[in-house]
Amino acid sequence: MEIRIYGDEVLNKRAEEVAEITTELKELIGEMIKKCPEANGIGLAAPQVGVSKRFFVVVVQDREDDDGKFVKGFSMVFINPVIKASSGSCKMEEGCLSVPGIWEIIERPEVIEVEFTDIEGRRLTGTYEGLLARVIQHENDHLDGILFVSKLPKLKQDLLKKRLNALKNKKRDY
Ligand code: NI
Repeated sequence: MEIRIYGDEVLNKRAEEVAEITTELKELIGEMIKKCPEANGIGLAAPQVGVSKRFFVVVVQDREDDDGKFVKGFSMVFINPVIKASSGSCKMEEGCLSVPGIWEIIERPEVIEVEFTDIEGRRLTGTYEGLLARVIQHENDHLDGILFVSKLPKLKQDLLKKRLNALKNKKRDY
């Protein structure tokens, strides 16, 4: 499984709805859940692995909190997600496996309500905040062909142009 890099057309396309949760799709999702932490990511959208379909995974690994307490990791799959509502605003640094080496502060809503289908085909609604809200919005953008760098002010984008162009057609197998 190869992670597509900036400049790859699949990253700029609006992905298509998932019509059916097939065994094949489940296998792909399983691979993405494995791949995501291997590549040091916390989210991975289907277009990033060359599949122009509307789903993404979020994988949070086991960790220790500030007091050294063990916090169990988890993974989630969002199929045909729709952000129904959002509120507040916060700034957070973002990076993207498809835009390696570039980290920038992006402003986005703080709390979101998302409707999505899970791996069992159930249509659910969840409310998320903090890091999860951030990752979900970032990944959901991938489904619309939007990369986080396009959310930066024009001047900042111009400053990044050279580095972004250098990424074009660069292939990376994490
Ligand atoms: Ni990304």
